[in-house]
Amino acid sequence: MTRPDFEVAIIGAGPGGIAAGHLLQRRGIEDFVIVERGDDFGGTWRDNHYPGLAVDIPSLWYQLSFNPNPDWSRLFAPGPELYRYFQDTASKLGLYDRLQANSEVIRQQWDDSAGVWRLTIRGRPDITARFVISSVGGYVNAKDKIDIDGVTSAIAEFEKTLVTPNSRFDQWLLGRKDALTADEVAGYTLFKDSGCVACHNGPAVGGASFQKMGVVEAYKASSPAEGRVAVTGKDADRFNFKVPTLRNVELTYPYFHDGAANTLTEAVDTMGRLQLGKKFTPEENAKVVAFLKTLTGDQPTFALPILPPSTDATPRPKPF
Ligand SMILES: Cc1cc2nc3c(=O)[nH]c(=O)nc-3n(C[C@H](O)[C@H](O)[C@H](O)COP(=O)(O)OP(=O)(O)OC[C@H]3O[C@@H](n4cnc5c(N)ncnc54)[C@H](O)[C@@H]3O)c2cc1C
Ligand code: HEC
Repeated sequence: MTRPDFEVAIIGAGPGGIAAGHLLQRRGIEDFVIVERGDDFGGTWRDNHYPGLAVDIPSLWYQLSFNPNPDWSRLFAPGPELYRYFQDTASKLGLYDRLQANSEVIRQQWDDSAGVWRLTIRGRPDITARFVISSVGGYVNAKDKIDIDGVTSAIAEFEKTLVTPNSRFDQWLLGRKDALTADEVAGYTLFKDSGCVACHNGPAVGGASFQKMGVVEAYKASSPAEGRVAVTGKDADRFNFKVPTLRNVELTYPYFHDGAANTLTEAVDTMGRLQLGKKFTPEENAKVVAFLKTLTGDQPTFALPILPPSTDATPRPKPF
């Protein structure tokens, strides 16, 4: 077996590389190198400089357990302070002696006959080691530029999460007549025949226009919001609001621009009276609500805080 340059090679001098170095030292393993493509310890905190950069979990939890810092300037310390902290930690542990900076590992290969790892370093001699600890971080290949294609695909990835297909109403439209109950179908009929569809229409059951909130009867609100006029400056836009999509409306309480309606029962009652001059009986209201609940589709599969449907007993938010 060939004698390697080092017992252990750590790739990356971020928080992970520093912790790995410390743990090796604690076990009495001193024959190691930290190979880093940048020019210093610090990882993410060395490389990121945008305004406002800070930890997004409190520094006291983020810091390394073996080097607690009593002097954080803020609960969520700014990026440059994190960078200094990791430099100080590395220095305290004597890790600068182990650092081989400006050394990007471009290939990492196990040489079975020699029994060593061979690291190919850009523009420098290879390094061999018995063990390799990879602590290259989660953002290995940072993009060097932001372009319109990247922005477009990032927005598209986000928009994919807004598609919630397969609601019971969709299934019903596709011909599965048992997807809705008789009450829900009656609610849909009321929704159409009362005129809700004048504004809430199209594939998203809304979302396509701005309309007056309070067509027949004025909307009494305690908030200062005045609608589109605040954007356009045109008096005709006073109290015009976006007609919201009613897809998943069961999950998106509270309702209206000011969150003043807590339940669908309340929202439907207000809409009937203010937009259409129609007072639904409690039975009719319940049917429209039952229909609206059939618009809940498959939710995105990533972990998202899905709110349970609101009930009359749900504690009320106080937005204003
Ligand atoms: C802007 C930003 C803010 C963040 N805020 C938080 C936060 O508040 N809380 C939180 O928990 N996490 C946060 N993170 C996640 C953060 O990445 C980790 O907390 C932490 O940096 C991970 O440490 P690391 O050592 O694993 O990786 P990094 O810090 O990414 O370090 C990896 C190191 O490996 C080097 N390297 C990579 N490839 C090679 C190679 N081929 N050859 C040689 N060297 C290489 C890099 O140059 C770098 O120095 C944030 C990340 C970013 C980008
Ligand atoms: C004249 C157009 C118009 C008509 C007709 C109309 N709506 Fe609306 N609807 C709106 C607007 C605009 C809003 C948003 C109001 C706001 O944000 O204050 C809204 C909001 C809602 C909301 C709350 C959604 C949310 O996410 O906040 C529900 C539920 C609703 N409408 C149901 C109905 C029902 C049921 C009918 C028929 C009885 C109806 N609407 C008729 C324009 C209309």
